[in-house]
Amino acid sequence: MSEYDTGTFGEFWAPYYDDIFEEAAFEVGLLREFAGDPPRALELAIGSGRVALPLSQAGVEVTGIDISDEMISLLRAKPGGEAIEVIVGDFADVGVDETFPLVYLPFNTLFALMTQERQVECFHNVGEALEPGGRFVLDTFVPDLRRFDHNNTRMGVSSISSNEAHAYEVSIHDPLTQKVVSHQVRRLEDGSTVVLPVTVRYAWPSEMDLMARLAGLQLEHRWAWYDKRAYTEKAGQHVSVYRKPSQ
Ligand SMILES: C[S@@+](CC[C@H](N)C(=O)[O-])C[C@H]1O[C@@H](n2cnc3c(N)ncnc32)[C@H](O)[C@@H]1O
Repeated sequence: MSEYDTGTFGEFWAPYYDDIFEEAAFEVGLLREFAGDPPRALELAIGSGRVALPLSQAGVEVTGIDISDEMISLLRAKPGGEAIEVIVGDFADVGVDETFPLVYLPFNTLFALMTQERQVECFHNVGEALEPGGRFVLDTFVPDLRRFDHNNTRMGVSSISSNEAHAYEVSIHDPLTQKVVSHQVRRLEDGSTVVLPVTVRYAWPSEMDLMARLAGLQLEHRWAWYDKRAYTEKAGQHVSVYRKPSQ
């Protein structure tokens, strides 16, 4: 397999993505709250529209950025998908000419940027693309290094049985670069098996808060999920809302 780059996720996952992941439910209510009036939002890494389509059905004019033609084709094929403006490019560059009351980046996808520098640039560019008083909302998992053994490897099983769809993953962790290289093995309902690669460069919530500060943004809320449940030491994920000052 060649080096994992910005297009790799879409190239491998697009044929299976919408069968594996359900359309967003909780995300939409919270994002709608921050979308302003008239409601507008920019989704970084819009993918197949899992979040963008229900959000646009909720009355928000959504613009998206994604680098994968395969993922954008999935969006285009769905009802309402043609109406969403999509900019093809690297979302870290946030290459837009207008500003938005809301920029959002769901589903761990900040971690698709492979270096701290690129993640810092992403926060900076989001700051430029926000209106005064606008919000940047993102969710990611909270890193938990106990998942890995002393060789920094992990074998995880989410479900397995002889005759049903199952999934397991093997991962290797590099604590120096904060990267995790994983292969997910999925047996599909038709009996075939696929190997899907994912590489992430994780960051701690505190590290993101610093990236936000460098970009002139302030942490306004941190919840454990989009339904605003409390963020505690037990939370495996967080939804963070950063605000650009009004002046
Ligand atoms: C896990 S999917 C998330 C899609 C959508 N936001 C959702 O919540 O379902 C990750 C998406 O990020 C896109 N992506 C990954 N790296 C990217 C990059 N550097 N620039 C633009 N898109 C990227 C992939 O093509 C894919 O559509």
